[in-house]
Amino acid sequence: MKTSSTAITFLAIAGTTIAAPANVERDLKPFQLTELNAGLYDQALPAYRIVNFKLNDPNNNIDTSCSSAWSGGMSGAYKFNCSNTDYQVNFPSLTDIEDIKLNVSIVNSKAFALGEINGDKWKCHNTGAEYPSKLCKYDGTYELPIVLA
Ligand SMILES: *[C@@H]1O[C@H](CO)[C@@H](O)[C@H](O)[C@H]1NC(C)=O
Ligand SMILES: *[C@@H]1O[C@H](CO)[C@@H](O)[C@H](O)[C@H]1NC(C)=O
Repeated sequence: MKTSSTAITFLAIAGTTIAAPANVERDLKPFQLTELNAGLYDQALPAYRIVNFKLNDPNNNIDTSCSSAWSGGMSGAYKFNCSNTDYQVNFPSLTDIEDIKLNVSIVNSKAFALGEINGDKWKCHNTGAEYPSKLCKYDGTYELPIVLA
């Protein structure tokens, strides 16, 4: 008897969980960006910035890489595809590669993640060369919390 009443209690709890409203953001783990780096190519106009990173989405067990070449004339809303084209990135602000605003999103979903890359871990230096004239590298993993639109 004790066993069966435990089973009923368990079923009741499971039923409550299933009945919770859909659409509620719950325990979404942040995107993990590694090998994040950027270069400024301003030898000729328009100047452009190349931003590369590896992207891990722990919620869907996806690993992909993203590479984008953004030039001054482009809209901040322009979406670059990652290698896995379910993932895209745009740059609401990328005039200065020492302070980059980026937005990683999943196509056909409500999930997107806004971040700003700057500060101590974002190490930039002038190369002394023309091409690229400046390089930046992120030290470690950049975590990008996901929100739902
Ligand atoms: C991005 O990927 C989508 C879907 O695969 C494709 O239709 C689109 O042309 C790609 N965009 C660019 C800029 O390559
Ligand atoms: C980020 O991407 C999402 C999904 O495409 C979009 O709805 C949102 O407007 C974007 N935000 C910015 C600031 O670019």
